[in-house]
Amino acid sequence: MAGRQLKLHHLLGKGASAKVYAGSLFGGRDGATQKVAVKQVTVKQSRRAGAAQTNMGAVLEQEVKMLSQLSHPSIVGYLGVFRPRVPPQQPPQYMIIMEYCAGGSFDQVLKSVPTHYLPEHEVVVITRQVVAGLAYLHSKGIMHRDIKPSNMLLTERGQIKISDFDCSTQCVGMQSLRRTCIGTPHYIAPEIVLTETSSFPADVWSLGCTVFHLASGDAPFGSLKGVAAMYRMVERPPSEFIPADVRSRISDVLVDFLMACWVRDPKGRPTAPQLAQHAFLRQQLSS
Ligand SMILES: Nc1ncnc2c1ncn2[C@@H]1O[C@H](COP(=O)(O)OP(=O)(O)O)[C@@H](O)[C@H]1O
Ligand SMILES: [Mg+2]
Repeated sequence: MAGRQLKLHHLLGKGASAKVYAGSLFGGRDGATQKVAVKQVTVKQSRRAGAAQTNMGAVLEQEVKMLSQLSHPSIVGYLGVFRPRVPPQQPPQYMIIMEYCAGGSFDQVLKSVPTHYLPEHEVVVITRQVVAGLAYLHSKGIMHRDIKPSNMLLTERGQIKISDFDCSTQCVGMQSLRRTCIGTPHYIAPEIVLTETSSFPADVWSLGCTVFHLASGDAPFGSLKGVAAMYRMVERPPSEFIPADVRSRISDVLVDFLMACWVRDPKGRPTAPQLAQHAFLRQQLSS
């Protein structure tokens, strides 16, 4: 990032911890201007945090460096981190520079379609890419921990990118930018609720909730508040996660895929590479 200048444009989206803007990066080696997305995060001040906060910039830089070394078509590209000057009495700010995804996130995509859900053949194409991205992340020892539609982005060319690594197992500094970092209740795996421990299979559970959301228009038990929905998923068998009107509209093979993601015992849940072989993702689509 050294020697390059950043200009911020309009707001692209707002999440739990940050605002994300469109931006331009000037002054690259070839003199070209690059369109980027800029995640602006402010470190929450706490009285005890003095030294830890001073160190935050270094930790974040390290993490963004790690993320920028990931290279997969289904993972958003990270370019670097800026620390803009702010008056000394204000909490430090960081600007995380990412690849720009013109189509926005899937919560935005779903809002833009009248039905609020996507046709199943589109869900197949999206899910294939997310599963490939998850398999890559897991092979690198990274658990995402917050797979959901708002953390999946769409590029101009129709590619899907997993983004928002603030909860990821390898990102300690990113996590401290958020107040809580256990994921999002409507997508959370039961083992996290029950034992507060989790590993890669928890991403597969969240993937199931995300795929259900894309195909139905809402997360499982989406009409309930987060914590209530979370406990409903802990208590009820997965077959009850799918209401009758949705069940009548989606295919048996999609239901089978969801049930595979929602195997309650994380040890018995298929891995991302195993899911890639599921009939739902291997079907030939007629265009
Ligand atoms: N690279 C990007 N390109 C386009 N929009 C983005 C990009 N990154 C994030 N956004 C938008 O900003 C929102 C919040 O970003 P995110 O990184 O998920 O922040 P948070 O950690 O607060 O959830 C996303 O849901 C999306 O709408
Ligand atoms: Mg997010």
